[in-house]
Amino acid sequence: MIVCLCKVVTDRAIDQLIDDGAASAAEIAQACGAGAGCGACVPAIEGMIAAMLAGGPSACRDCPRLTATVRSPYVAHLEHGVGEAG
Ligand code: FES
Repeated sequence: MIVCLCKVVTDRAIDQLIDDGAASAAEIAQACGAGAGCGACVPAIEGMIAAMLAGGPSACRDCPRLTATVRSPYVAHLEHGVGEAG
């Protein structure tokens, strides 16, 4: 599936860049151009990164890519338990 229409970049290409260590939309844009055009795909790219860092297919919570620079409130929320009572 094409995620970035401006640069014609697929989800597979972005997943590969995340697997290779890209941990921000800016790093993805630098690597392949996705997100560097109109910017409409940036939220989708950020979502892909967050999903991978939160335990996606090739990520784990102890991954060294989960650095302070990429910790978002979303990730912090996951670490403290989504939907836990109390
Ligand atoms: S759709 Fe990705 S920059 Fe425009």
